[in-house]
Amino acid sequence: MQDEATRARLRYQPWYLHIERQEGAYVWVDGRKMIMMSSNDYLGLTDHPKVLEAGREALERWGTSTTGARLANGSRAYHRELEEELAAFLGKEDCIVLSAGYLACMASVATFASKGDLILVDRNVHSSLWSGISLSSARVERFSHNNPSDLQDILMTEARDVPKLVVVEGVYSMEGHIARLPELIEVTRDHNTFFVVDDAHGLGVLGDRGQGTVGYLDCTKEVDLICGSLSKALASTGGYIAGSKAVIEYLRTHSKQTIFSAAICPSQAACALAALRLLQSEPEHRERLWENTRYFKQVLNRLELETWDSETPAVPIIIGNKERTYRIWRHLLENGVFSVIAIPPAVPPGRDLLRTAVSARMTREQLDRVGDVLKRAFRKI
Ligand SMILES: Cc1ncc(COP(=O)(O)O)c(C=O)c1O
Repeated sequence: MQDEATRARLRYQPWYLHIERQEGAYVWVDGRKMIMMSSNDYLGLTDHPKVLEAGREALERWGTSTTGARLANGSRAYHRELEEELAAFLGKEDCIVLSAGYLACMASVATFASKGDLILVDRNVHSSLWSGISLSSARVERFSHNNPSDLQDILMTEARDVPKLVVVEGVYSMEGHIARLPELIEVTRDHNTFFVVDDAHGLGVLGDRGQGTVGYLDCTKEVDLICGSLSKALASTGGYIAGSKAVIEYLRTHSKQTIFSAAICPSQAACALAALRLLQSEPEHRERLWENTRYFKQVLNRLELETWDSETPAVPIIIGNKERTYRIWRHLLENGVFSVIAIPPAVPPGRDLLRTAVSARMTREQLDRVGDVLKRAFRKI
């Protein structure tokens, strides 16, 4: 429990809020019930009976932790099972799972780019990919966000045979944009490229089976590595990297993030595996997610709020300056809507925003209520 002084200090800060309880789409902060609009529980599976049962059973049998890396201490139940099912689901030969999506994305870049290589990266990619880039000694060129012609311009000045790592997200977590993968692949076609896609926000969300952005855009063959997180639609924690057998084997034996970090615990792997199976056996969660997404966007359109042309359930509401973003965030919090703010450098200057995310578990009444609170906030502030 937090004491009163800590609670008072945190009350006006948009970070690290203390959530006392959660139930469905609601959370309680300071005793107040709020609609949770910043979770990435896209399919609402974090309390699905089958996911809970899988986690409980694994926890009982395998305890709370692997207490070490797999290279040294061995794999446990669910590690290989999850990897094999994820690989098959994503249309790749093999997969490796790690204890965090951040580590997986970082490893996907850091392990494959070295001195003499060129990294071509979308300016707006997630911090985990930048961390991977900063660990490599490769040269880096940034191209404008989701802009194949800018990438093409950069490539005009580069030798074709230089090894190039192209780094993008499948669904951009702040903007909600879907990567223009077919065009990005087309402009890099005659170059010596290795394509990495972080699909943390696409898995479970896009595609007729929820297979993610790469499958949805029919680019599975051209994309070398798909990495991402198990902490969004798959209702767990951990990360994954899927690719060819040779590439995943190289990661197993060469990536520091794999070799020197404790394995994802069996109960989390079991939860992700149960959620992965539910994606396929219960498509109604994804259908409801998209119905809710369309509905929420209509609500925001009626209010004439700018959503950065989001194409997915990750929906930013652009405000444009820090002070006003903070004040609107606080109005929402005080009126029963939990959201999160993103300010530079997390977003480009002038794009300060409230980041919301739709979930399959929300009702239209809840989304209308969020609309009402937003309307009053924008009127008042
Ligand atoms: C695009 C993207 N990549 C990677 C990650 C890291 O995933 P995790 O939270 O599982 O470490 C996140 C999480 O916020 C993300 O949004």
